[in-house]
Amino acid sequence: MRRFSPSSHTISIPKFLTILIGISASMALFRAGFGTIPDRGAADDTAVSLSRRIELTSFRPQIPDTPSPAIKAPAPLGPIPPVDPNAPAAQPRRSGMEVPKLQVAEETGRASLVKDLVGDKTCAECHPGEHALHFGSGHARTLRPAGRHPAMRKLTDKLFCDEEDVKVLWRYVIDGDRVEALLHKPGQPVQCVPLDWAVGSGEHGMTFISILFDPKIGQYKGLEHRLSYLTDGHQMIVTPGQAQRDVAGTSIEMNETGRVVDRKGLVKCLECHSTVTSDKKPGEFDPHTIVPNISCERCHGPGRSHVEAARQGLDESKLTMPLGTASATPLRQIHECGTCHRRINTVPPSQLHEDNHELARFQPVGIEASLCFKEGKSGLKCTTCHDPHGKVSRDRPAYLQACMNCHEGPGKSKCRVEPRGDCISCHMPQRTVSEVFRFTDHWIRIPKSE
Ligand code: HEC
Ligand code: HEC
Ligand code: HEC
Ligand code: HEC
Ligand code: HEC
Ligand code: HEC
Ligand code: HEC
Repeated sequence: MRRFSPSSHTISIPKFLTILIGISASMALFRAGFGTIPDRGAADDTAVSLSRRIELTSFRPQIPDTPSPAIKAPAPLGPIPPVDPNAPAAQPRRSGMEVPKLQVAEETGRASLVKDLVGDKTCAECHPGEHALHFGSGHARTLRPAGRHPAMRKLTDKLFCDEEDVKVLWRYVIDGDRVEALLHKPGQPVQCVPLDWAVGSGEHGMTFISILFDPKIGQYKGLEHRLSYLTDGHQMIVTPGQAQRDVAGTSIEMNETGRVVDRKGLVKCLECHSTVTSDKKPGEFDPHTIVPNISCERCHGPGRSHVEAARQGLDESKLTMPLGTASATPLRQIHECGTCHRRINTVPPSQLHEDNHELARFQPVGIEASLCFKEGKSGLKCTTCHDPHGKVSRDRPAYLQACMNCHEGPGKSKCRVEPRGDCISCHMPQRTVSEVFRFTDHWIRIPKSE
C-alpha cells in the first residue's frame, strides 16, 4: 500500500468537516443494533451516585482508593480555576491504555483473549512504515482516558450550555486521567459528573463516557455524556442521538447528564472503538483489561505466533496474516472493515435504496452496492483507494487515478459526460447525513438528473 505518499496523509483542514460524531447520526440504523435499554427503577438510578462508582484503577492509578466525591459543594460560576492540561500526573504513571506487553502476558498467563496480543510497539520493530502511519490515524487514538484528550485544551476555561435547555451550563476540569464535568443550574447545587473515557480521536469529534458499576445487578454500565465535542468550531453540542427528536417515542433512558447505556450497549459502543473489551470473552466488558483503540491486531489478528515465526526467520509464506495483502479477498476485506463501518446485511432492505443518503455514512455498504464491485471480478475493495493504516487522503488526483485504472483503455466502460473530469464530484458526492454530518457517498453510480 504505497500508492499514496505519506505527505498526502498530513491533511489540511478539509472544508466539509461538519462531519460525524457519535453513534447515532443515523439513529434509525443504530437503534436496531443497540437494542432497548431495560427499564430498571429509574427513580434512584442517578447515574453518578457515589456508591455505584468503581475505581478504574487502571485508568487513574495515582488516586488509590478514595473516589472523588460525586456531588461537590456549590461553586459559584465565576473565575474558573486554572488547570494546566500538560501538568504531569503523579508518579508512578501507568497509562492503562497500553496493550499488554509480550513478556507480561507470558509471565502471568493472561486470560485467553489477550494472551496472544503483543501490542503495536512490537509490530513497529519490523513494520515501522505501517506503524508510523497508523500511529497518527484515528484508529490508533479513538479511546483514551478523558483527561488526556487534546480537546480538553479547548474546553477547560469555558462554559457550555445545553442547546435544548439553555439554563443548564457545563464546565470541564481535568482531574488526573479523568475529567470532572460540573453542571450548573440556577437554584441548584453544582453537580459533578466524573467522565472516564473519551471516545473518538477528535479528528471530527469526541464523546465522553462515564463507567459506572451497578451493584444491584453486579454489572458495569455507562453514561454517555450529554454534550459532545465537535472539532469544527471547538463546540460542545448535544450528543447525536440525545436530541429530543431522536429520543422521543423510544425507551432510551436519559437524564440531564446524558444517556444511560446498559452493559450490552456499553460493549457495543466500545467494541468498535477498541481491540477487545475484556480479556475473558467477546461480549464482556472489563475496564481493567480492555485493550483500547483499533490496534494492528484488531485487523490482523493476534500477533504472537507471527512474531515468533518472523524472529526465527521463517519463510514469507509462513508469515501471512489475516487481512494481509496475500490473504484477503475483496469481499472479505470489505466485510472486515464493515464490522465497524457497517455491512450491507445490517441494513434493512427497505432502507437500501438510492435515495437514502444516510447510507453515505456506511462506506462498505456503498461499495458493495456499487456496480464497480458487483459486475464481474473487478476486485474493487477499500484498499483500492485507501491506505488502511493512515488517515483519509485528500489527494484527489490519486483517487481519480484509481477510477482510471479500471475505466480507461480499450474495452473499458468510459464516461460519456466528462471522461477527464473530477469523477468523485459526480459519482461519489458528499452527502449530508442526519442534517449535520457530511460523508462521501461510496455507492458509485450514475448521478440522478436533477
Ligand atoms: C474495530 C472497528 C473498526 C474496523 C475493523 C475498521 N475501522 Fe475504520 N474506523 C473505526 C472508527 C471507530 C473510526 C473513527 C476513529 C476516530 O477518529 O476516532 C474509524 C475511522 C476510519 C477512517 C477515517 C475516517 C475519517 O473520516 O477520517 C478510515 C479511512 C477508516 N476508518 C477505514 C477503515 C478501513 C479501510 C478498514 C478496513 C481495512 C477499517 N477502517 C476497519 C472503526 C473501525
Ligand atoms: C458498529 C460500530 C460502532 C459503534 C457501535 C459505535 N461507533 Fe463510534 N464510530 C464508528 C465508526 C466506524 C466511526 C468512524 C466513521 C463514522 O463517523 O461513522 C465512528 C466515529 C465515532 C466518533 C467520531 C470520531 C472522529 O473524530 O472522527 C465518535 C465521537 C464516536 N464514534 C463515538 C461513539 C460512541 C460514544 C459510541 C457508543 C455510545 C459509538 N461511537 C459506537 C463505529 C462505531
Ligand atoms: C483497520 C485495519 C488495519 C489496521 C488497524 C492495521 N492494518 Fe495492516 N493492513 C490492513 C489491510 C486491509 C492490509 C492489506 C492492504 C492491501 O490489500 O493492499 C494491510 C496490510 C498490512 C501489511 C502488508 C503490507 C504490504 O504492502 O505488503 C503489513 C506489514 C501490515 N498491514 C502491518 C500492520 C501493522 C504493523 C499495523 C499496526 C501498526 C497494522 N497493519 C494495522 C488493515 C489494517
Ligand atoms: C520480527 C519481525 C516482525 C515482527 C515483530 C512483525 N512482523 Fe509482520 N512480517 C514480518 C515479515 C518478515 C513479513 C513478510 C514480509 C513482508 O510482507 O514484509 C511480515 C508480514 C506481515 C504482514 C503481511 C502478511 C500477508 O499476509 O500479506 C502483515 C499484515 C504483518 N506482517 C503484520 C504484523 C503485525 C500486525 C505485527 C505485530 C503484531 C507484526 N507483523 C510483527 C516480520 C515481522
Ligand atoms: C477495480 C475496478 C474499478 C474501479 C477502481 C472503479 N470502477 Fe467503476 N466500474 C467497474 C466495473 C467492472 C463496472 C461495471 C461494468 C462497466 O460499466 O464497465 C463499473 C461501473 C461504473 C459505473 C456505472 C455504474 C452504473 O450503475 O451504471 C460508473 C458511473 C463508474 N463505474 C464510475 C467509477 C468511478 C467514478 C470510479 C472511481 C471513483 C470507479 N468507477 C472505479 C470497475 C471499477
Ligand atoms: C473508488 C475509491 C474508493 C473506495 C474503493 C473506497 N473509498 Fe473511502 N473514500 C473515497 C473518497 C474519494 C473519499 C473522500 C476523500 C476526501 O474527503 O477527500 C473517501 C472517504 C472515506 C472515509 C472518510 C469519511 C467520508 O465518508 O468522507 C472513510 C471512513 C472511508 N472512505 C472508508 C472506506 C471504506 C471502509 C472502504 C471500503 C469498504 C472505502 N472507503 C472504499 C474513495 C474510496
Ligand atoms: C459532471 C459530472 C460527471 C463527471 C465529472 C464524470 N461523470 Fe461519469 N457520468 C456522468 C453521468 C451523468 C453519466 C451517465 C451518462 C449516460 O447516461 O450516458 C456518467 C456515466 C459514467 C459511466 C458509465 C458509462 C456507461 O456507458 O455505462 C462511467 C463508467 C463513468 N461515468 C465514469 C466516470 C469517470 C471514471 C469519471 C472521471 C474521469 C467520470 N465518470 C466523471 C457524470 C459525470
